[in-house]
Amino acid sequence: MDNVLSFIDQNKDRYLSELKDLLAIPSVSTNPQNKSDMDRCAQWVANHMQTIGLQNVQIYPTPGHSVVYADWLNAPGKPTVLLYGHYDVQPPEPLDLWTSPPFDATIRGDNLYARGSADDKGQVFIHFKSIEAFLKNTGELPINLKLLIEGEEEIGSTHLDEFVEAHKDLLKADLVLISDSSMFAKDVPSICYGLRGLSYLQIDLVGPNRDLHSGSFGGSVHNPIQALTEIIAQLHDKNGRITIPGFYKDVRPLTKKERAAYKKLPWSDKKYAKDLGVKQLYGEKGFTSLERVWARPTLECNGIWGGFIGEGAKTVLPSRASAKISMRLVPDQKSARIGKLVANHIKKITPKTVQVTVRDLHGGEAAITPIDSPGVQAAIAALEKGFGKKPLYQREGGSIPIVTQFKQLLGLDTVLLGFGLPDENAHAPDEHINLDNFFGGIRTSAHFFSELPNFMNGRKK
Ligand code: BES
Ligand code: ZN
Repeated sequence: MDNVLSFIDQNKDRYLSELKDLLAIPSVSTNPQNKSDMDRCAQWVANHMQTIGLQNVQIYPTPGHSVVYADWLNAPGKPTVLLYGHYDVQPPEPLDLWTSPPFDATIRGDNLYARGSADDKGQVFIHFKSIEAFLKNTGELPINLKLLIEGEEEIGSTHLDEFVEAHKDLLKADLVLISDSSMFAKDVPSICYGLRGLSYLQIDLVGPNRDLHSGSFGGSVHNPIQALTEIIAQLHDKNGRITIPGFYKDVRPLTKKERAAYKKLPWSDKKYAKDLGVKQLYGEKGFTSLERVWARPTLECNGIWGGFIGEGAKTVLPSRASAKISMRLVPDQKSARIGKLVANHIKKITPKTVQVTVRDLHGGEAAITPIDSPGVQAAIAALEKGFGKKPLYQREGGSIPIVTQFKQLLGLDTVLLGFGLPDENAHAPDEHINLDNFFGGIRTSAHFFSELPNFMNGRKK
C-alpha cells in the first residue's frame, strides 16, 4: 500500500494533464450535434482503461450513446466491485458566464474548472488513477473489478436498463460503487445513503393560430404565456406545498431518528442563504432546508419560453408558450405514476382559451441504500484514511436513476462515495472540482479497494 500511495503522490501533475484531455471532449449527451464527440469520449475512456491495465475493454453501442465496459478479475476469492460512472456532461450554456472556456480545463486557486470536472468525469478519473497505481506498482488489484461507464446519465440513463438486463452475467458483482455525488462540505467527508427520483415533463400551450398584434388583439384573446404562468403558479400553495391531489400519497415520512440526526449536522441556513445570494430561503412549511432537499418531493419549473425575447421591444401577443417542469421524488413515489398524475392535473386546470400538450421526457426512481453494509463500512474506513476524518451520513437531492435498477435487476446495493462539493456548480457555469478532494479521492479509492476484502469477510464489523 505504501508504494501505491507514494506513486499517487508522485504523479499528480500527470493526472491533471490527462484529466484535462478527457475534459476537453464536449460529451454533451442531450445535444445531437455532439454525437461524434460522444463516440470520441467513449473511445477515450476505453483507451484509457487499456492504458491503466484493465482487461476486456469493450465499447457497447446502444440505440443512444455507447456504454464502456472493462474488468480485472484476477483476484479469486476476493469480492467483486461494479464501479459505475458516466462520461456524458450537461450542456455548458450560458457560455458567457464561464470565467474560462468550459472545455479547456483551467486551474484557479485550489480548483480545476471545466464542464464535467466534478460531474462526473473527474470522479470517474479518480478511480482510474487508483486502479492504475495498484496495477503499475503491484501488478494486481486487492479485489475483482468491473467498470461500467455510460454516456446517458444526464438524460435519464435511457438505454442503460436494457443494457443491464441483457448483461446480467457480465455485471455480476458483490456491490456497486458510485462516485457521482458530493461531500457534505470541504473537510467534511460523507457517505450518501439517499437520492431523489425524477419525473420530467414539457408543457406546450397554443393559443391563437398565429402571432397577433398585441394592440389590435390584446384584451380579447388569452395570452398563452399568461395562461402558462397561471397554470404554473397554481402548482404550489402559500405554504410551499404542491397542490396536485395525490402527489404526496406514497411519500415515505422522515423518521424521528433521521430528523434528529440532520439537526446535528454542521449546517447554517444563514450561511446557505448568503452564499446563494438570497435574502430569504423558500420551501415546504414544517421542514428544514436539509429535509426539504433530501427527503421531500419538489416541483420546479426548469425553463419557460414564448413570445419575443430579442433585443428591444416588440408588441406581440404570441401564439405559443412552453415550459419544462420536473418533480424530484422520494421513496416510495413512483416516477411513472407521478408523471401521469401531474400531466393529467395540468390538462385539467388548463383553461379552454388555450390547447395543451404535456410530454413525458424522462424519469427515474429515488433510492435509499443500506448504511450497515460491509461496503459502506469499508468506505467509512477508506474515507478516514484518505481524508483523516470520520465521515458523516447524508442524503442528496440529486438523482442517479440506475441505482434502483442495480438493486432490482442485479440484486446489488450501492455505495455512494462522493468526492464533489455542493458549491462546485455542477450543471452550471464555472463547474469545478477541488484539487484536495480530487487527490484525497484517489487515496480514498485505493484504501477502499484494499480495505473491502477485510469487511466482506466479516473480519471487521
Ligand atoms: N451527479 C448527479 C447526481 C447528483 C446530483 C447526486 C447532486 C448528488 C447530488 C448526476 O450526474 C445528475 O445530475 N443526475 C441527473 C439525473 C437526471 C437527469 C435523471 C439529475 O439529478 O438531475
Ligand atoms: Zn449531473
